Amino acid sequence: LDPGATAVAHPNIALIKYWGKRDEQLMIPYVDSLSMTLDVFPTTTTVRLSPEAPADSVTLDGSPAEGEQRRRVVAFLDLVRELAGRTEPAEVDTRNAVPTGAGLASSASGFAALALAGAAAYGLDLDPTALSRLARRGSVSAARSIFGDFAICHAGRGTSEDADLDSYAEPVPVPDFDPALVIALVDAGPKAVSSRAAMRRTVETSPLYRSWATSSAADLTEMRVALRRGDLDAVGEIAERNALGMHATMLAARPAVRYLSPATVAVLDRVGWLRANGVPAYATMDAGPNVKVLCHRTDAARVAEALRDAAPGCSVVTARRGPGARLRTG
Ligand code: DP6
Repeated sequence: LDPGATAVAHPNIALIKYWGKRDEQLMIPYVDSLSMTLDVFPTTTTVRLSPEAPADSVTLDGSPAEGEQRRRVVAFLDLVRELAGRTEPAEVDTRNAVPTGAGLASSASGFAALALAGAAAYGLDLDPTALSRLARRGSVSAARSIFGDFAICHAGRGTSEDADLDSYAEPVPVPDFDPALVIALVDAGPKAVSSRAAMRRTVETSPLYRSWATSSAADLTEMRVALRRGDLDAVGEIAERNALGMHATMLAARPAVRYLSPATVAVLDRVGWLRANGVPAYATMDAGPNVKVLCHRTDAARVAEALRDAAPGCSVVTARRGPGARLRTG
């Protein structure tokens, strides 16, 4: 039996967010983004060629993938096959250590792992930049999960065809910054609106979108300086305002997209309370109600306890910077 290729990738959390595509076909983002790859919730994906099969088979956490999920994986395999000049169908088996679609970036770890395992299974020899470009075609945030620690994803310039070539992620060396990211899972259920549909609606209808994109470019410049300094307060402040600004663009969309739940707001209040009580802690939120709180590692236990108390019943997981995507051998 062909053992295929198995890859492991971790989710990443953006400190400067990606929100909005200027080309949905080629998956070109409007803005640059910058993230920290985590050491929790890996996705493990095996891709095995099955030349005799009539079509691709896609299994997600032990069950056949359906609908949009299956369509995205098959479209991605088509792209890998086109690059490799091959036609055989494949068997894809994906396991997530976190519920899919809950705003915890399972598409980032998912497509990073699929890009790496798929390229290996079809015999494509890609450098990290080419792998990151490939992963971007599955999910823009996946381009960043090819790399560990901190990574920037370039939006690319010029026409879509030009941008396709230079929209990829690369590592941002940050030697002296090793914070904790305390994740409050306030609701692990699937989200009401997919991030893909939500960002499309935001770009098309939100009068705030363009001004957020402009201020996000300035946030990125400041963020790079703050990271280089290892300045948690500056990193946290910039990340928090960037995320809140992104959610403001969604709230101004027509109709509004609101991911923040009462529990999210209770956690945000508690983060403010921690700061007022001398514990540096800063929040960021993605396309879901969960809150991720950046703090010093030495404060992580205290922050976790405060978040649990603010949203009774939520589960809290503490992450650190984690590894890039890698193939598993043997
Ligand atoms: C809010 O990368 O999941 O998490 O490119 O359509 O697959 P697609 O979207 P996705 O969106 C992530 C959006 C975000 C911010 C971020 O991770 O930068």
